[in-house]
Amino acid sequence: MDAVAPALETIDTIPILIAPHAMLKTRARPVQSVDQDTVRALLPRMFATMYRAPGIGLAGPQVGQLLRVIAIDLMPDNHPNPMSLINPEIVAQSEELATREEGCLSLPGMYAEVTRPARVKVRYLDQTGARREIQADGLLAACLQHEIDHLDGILFVDHLSPLKRNMIMRKLAKEQRQKVGGR
Ligand code: NI
Repeated sequence: MDAVAPALETIDTIPILIAPHAMLKTRARPVQSVDQDTVRALLPRMFATMYRAPGIGLAGPQVGQLLRVIAIDLMPDNHPNPMSLINPEIVAQSEELATREEGCLSLPGMYAEVTRPARVKVRYLDQTGARREIQADGLLAACLQHEIDHLDGILFVDHLSPLKRNMIMRKLAKEQRQKVGGR
C-alpha cells in the first residue's frame, strides 16, 4: 500500500465540495460489484485530492460521489499509510467518550471540539474487496467516525449546539464569499 503515495503526484485531483452543499447532506449508497471500476478509478484520485489539500480523511460525497467510500491517512511519523474503506460500518463503540478538535476539508478553516465514542470497531472492505475489521482509538477512532458520518450526510458541526453550528456556518459563508470576491 505504501506504493500508492508517490505515484499520486501524477493523478488529477477532484474539486472538494464546500458546505453547505446538498450532496454533503445526502446519504451515500453502498458500493456494489457493478461499481468496482468506478471505485478503482476513484480511490487514487481521492487520495491525491486528500494529500494535496492536505487532509487526513476524505469521503465520497465530499468529491461529489454518493458512494460509501472513504480515504484515510493519518501519516504516522510522516510516512504515508493509506487506508481505503469501502462500505464501512461501525459494529461496536465504547461507552467512554473522547473530545477532540475536528476540522473538515468541506469546511475549510473551521474547527471545533467534538465529543464521540472513544473507541470503535469498524468493518469494511479494503481496495481489493477483502473483508477487514479494525479496532481504533484516539485520532483514528475520531477520524473513522467523522468520515463514516459523511456517508450519512452528517458533518462535524451537526454534533455541535445549533448556536455553535450556525456561528461556524455563517463564518464559513462569509469567508467563502470573500474568497470568491477576491478573485
Ligand atoms: Ni470531513
